[in-house]
Amino acid sequence: MAKTNRIKIDDILQGKKTDKIVNIRGWIYRTRSSGNIVFTIIRDSSGTIQTTIKKDNLSDKEFEDAKKALIESSLEIQGTVKKDMRAPGGYELQASKVKIISFAEPFPIVKDQSPEFLLDQRHLWIRSQKLTSIMKIRSTIVGAIHRFFRDKGYYEFDAPVLQPNQCEGGSTLFEVKYYDNKTYLSQSWQLYAEAAVFSLEKIYNMGPTFRAEKSKTSRHLSEFWMAEMEVAWMDLYAITEIAKEEVKFILKEVLKHNKKDLEILGQDISKLEKISKAKFPTITYTEALKILEGKENMDIKWGKDLRTLEEDKLMKHFETPVVVTNYPLKIMAFYKPSDPIDSETALCFDMIAPEGYGEIVGGSQRSLNVDEMTNRLKEMGEKIENYDWYFDLRRYGSIPHSGYGLGVERVVMWICGLDNIKDSIPFPRTILRYKP
Ligand code: 4AD
Ligand code: MG
Repeated sequence: MAKTNRIKIDDILQGKKTDKIVNIRGWIYRTRSSGNIVFTIIRDSSGTIQTTIKKDNLSDKEFEDAKKALIESSLEIQGTVKKDMRAPGGYELQASKVKIISFAEPFPIVKDQSPEFLLDQRHLWIRSQKLTSIMKIRSTIVGAIHRFFRDKGYYEFDAPVLQPNQCEGGSTLFEVKYYDNKTYLSQSWQLYAEAAVFSLEKIYNMGPTFRAEKSKTSRHLSEFWMAEMEVAWMDLYAITEIAKEEVKFILKEVLKHNKKDLEILGQDISKLEKISKAKFPTITYTEALKILEGKENMDIKWGKDLRTLEEDKLMKHFETPVVVTNYPLKIMAFYKPSDPIDSETALCFDMIAPEGYGEIVGGSQRSLNVDEMTNRLKEMGEKIENYDWYFDLRRYGSIPHSGYGLGVERVVMWICGLDNIKDSIPFPRTILRYKP
């Protein structure tokens, strides 16, 4: 079939090809035949189009092939574009040539299958309209993060994935045999980033991150992507403002490039537009407890972390993401410093998304006090000599610095309005699943 004039389905749906002869290629999304006519919906990466294949317009072999091709067969079609208000998308293709590239076997995925079955068939299920739209939005989000930091003059900096240390607590480490030793899969890029701010000052990265999360939740993956930044000379309050700006930029980019995908996912576009222009409030942990006490009748002991339940109740009182600072020092990672004004709390923050999507960003100013950090690590039973290299960073020209990490899947989940984080990544890894 002539290569000329081969277009994407979306080019047809844009309305500029009416009455023209075009070639498309893709896969059969739905098909049924009735006598001398086959009604097929074809999909490619850009969309779907209704197609009628009539015996009269084709050779016998072409028509018989089209009739017997099952869904997910790949094909190339030439046809005339017709405006048809009854067709989804408003256009129909009337086929004049059909070439089946590969006849598919009966597709294992049919309607109303269980989430577990669909996860087993993930390699095929990622062809679904829903996952296709999510993956397109995810691609926009990842692109937006790179643009956001590069436009501000940040360098992309890469840290090792195999690391000798913990960063966020030993209980979620994945151990890896390393010749005659052992290492861990990266829990965070941060500690290495803290070494690099001495040469680059403003850095960011996005990379795979691993946590052996032992509980089954709808918000935790064992392998996820974190977008982190680390910056010299800045304090906690400066980076919370950058995090707010980043999240709004991500939203604006998705609204600019993925309206169709948000519609497919049934998301409220005007709500997201409003959030992208709103001011995100900053409150302290102690203020959050007051809201929970006063408005939700919850009695939470000062010093306890906010769990999913508390975060969700808190967010009933906000329409935008909220930054919560100054969590109790005792429950924080070893590198978070105490606040000189309120020494029981840490100079740290989480950003919590509205509508029960939970923590999307976590970060802090970094402690410059080697003795304090040593004591915290000892309490956790860590081998101090493994952190000697990290403490060197406080010995040779130490400077104030801060950074944060944004959970890419958490942001995808929130913007796409997903029930479970598993659909925010093509091949999810959880405590119960590492296949396919
Ligand atoms: O709050 P966390 O643990 O922060 C850090 O790792 C810091 N070292 C980052 C930094 O300061 N450079 O993780 C950051 C974000 C969380 O806010 C959450 O969005 C996401 O990573 N996250 C997860 N996402 C999916 N599955 C998990 N198991 C996650 N754990 C954290
Ligand atoms: Mg956190």
